[in-house]
Amino acid sequence: MSETVLKLEGVTKSFGPVDVIKGVDLNVRRGQVQALLGENGAGKSTLIKMIAGVHEPDSGRILVDGKEVRIPDTKASEALGIATIHQELNLVPTMSVAENIVLGRTPQRYGLVNRKHLKAQAQAALHLIGLDVDLDTPVGELGVAKQQLVEIAKALSMNARILILDEPTAALTGKEVDALFTVLEGLKAKGVAMVFISHHLDELARIAETICVLRDGAFIAEVPSDTDEDELVRLMVGRSIENQYPRDTPPERGDVLLEVAGLTTQGSFQDISFEVHSGEVVGLAGLVGAGRTEIIRAIAGADTYDSGSIRVNGQELRGGDIGAAIRAGVGHIPEDRKAQALVLDASVADNLGFATLYPTARAGIADRSGQHRRAGEVAEKLRIRMSGLDQAIRNLSGGNQQKAVFGRWVLANSKVLLLDEPTRGVDVGAKVEIYNIINEVTAAGGAVLMASSDLPEVLGMSDRILVMSGGQLAGQLPKDSTQDEVMTLAVANVTSATSAAATNSASHDPKD
Ligand SMILES: Nc1ncnc2c1ncn2[C@@H]1O[C@H](COP(=O)(O)OP(=O)(O)OP(=O)(O)O)[C@@H](O)[C@H]1O
Ligand SMILES: [Mg+2]
Repeated sequence: MSETVLKLEGVTKSFGPVDVIKGVDLNVRRGQVQALLGENGAGKSTLIKMIAGVHEPDSGRILVDGKEVRIPDTKASEALGIATIHQELNLVPTMSVAENIVLGRTPQRYGLVNRKHLKAQAQAALHLIGLDVDLDTPVGELGVAKQQLVEIAKALSMNARILILDEPTAALTGKEVDALFTVLEGLKAKGVAMVFISHHLDELARIAETICVLRDGAFIAEVPSDTDEDELVRLMVGRSIENQYPRDTPPERGDVLLEVAGLTTQGSFQDISFEVHSGEVVGLAGLVGAGRTEIIRAIAGADTYDSGSIRVNGQELRGGDIGAAIRAGVGHIPEDRKAQALVLDASVADNLGFATLYPTARAGIADRSGQHRRAGEVAEKLRIRMSGLDQAIRNLSGGNQQKAVFGRWVLANSKVLLLDEPTRGVDVGAKVEIYNIINEVTAAGGAVLMASSDLPEVLGMSDRILVMSGGQLAGQLPKDSTQDEVMTLAVANVTSATSAAATNSASHDPKD
């Protein structure tokens, strides 16, 4: 067994009256990856924040190389050779990629910023993970996946001997995950000790040596990473999950609720036409950059579009008017919940109520108590883990924040739900809960359009699948298609634009 570089012993942490970490042991070994597994709110991020110097434990010990240490702040953590990639990105949107990567440890010579050195360092880090972006681009202009890669590059450029990765793959697609894992394998070979958090069980089997399972803040077990998935789920949620994708019998298909015709925005997507009926879940698959998010944003009124039309329930929606979209019954779950969906310092109740506070107002006066009660019902239905409705949403675990975004549209009774990566960062148990909510929405006559990079999810939950490639609809596939069939269409317009146009016209009519 490899030597233990970092060790936690009987660590505890409470926030006010809530015990979040209850005596957890953790061993992180040289040249190995220790995975942390647990439901949303189990305490994974809180545990690693005690290693990163964000929180100090209330009791218990932290040992580095066998010596007890205190890690009162992030500087102390870095000084011990620990680099941390947090779950919520810590980039400054207005600063460039290069500046973000070397933030806080700008190379200096005689007290001056050495820009050339700074750039070289940043470039080397980007090269390592295969990210091709201009170093001068403000980070805020990049999509979530690229921002995540910048965050990873930042940690890698610190040459740490202990690397902590809190859900680094949540926003990445298969190819990017592969590239990241190649880098991590290289770091293992150099003896770097790592902690890795992910809700994707297959990733743990690929990259980790051992898996430490937490449940409700308590240490449950450390098991080898080849432990079978059913057993991992059982350890994690305390019961087995029968059916990961509970959509075997979709409801009857009703009238068209969403109709998109010839929708075009130069540089994003061209001539997109499709319909989603009442009772249907339509998947939207494709590679990063295929235009899925852009289409969803256009329908949601978050962006304008150049030409074409969008109708919801027969009513035409102009671009760029979120209020009109909401009034027409559209609910939007964006891919970046922190930046686009939540007001982090507001309460859970307020975040749940943003779409409904005014529509439910009587004589122009917001119905706050009714709102609070309804928010409470939805929070319970979605099993949002929190200390109470008045807790700031910032302090909810990532997965529970996502459930709250979902809850907003359940509360608003939205008829057309637009989901962009709806279960990113959501644990296996909570995923099933979200799928059940999707089923309830369609059973009640709603329509769902779901963009997701999680192919098993798209295949398991969609009644049919639209595949996008290079800004165009490359085709439509029925429910029981394979990952290979989706990928073949997804790369159609990427390999060759001209042959893709041919594929496009020859493919099935997505308006079936
Ligand atoms: N600063 C804080 N104040 C109050 N409660 C907090 C704070 N930070 C975390 N919590 C609570 O601690 C619990 C554990 O949260 P944590 O973020 O560690 O979960 P997690 O296992 O990382 O979940 P996820 O998979 O959703 O990211 C949650 O119930 C959360 O609400
Ligand atoms: Mg977390």
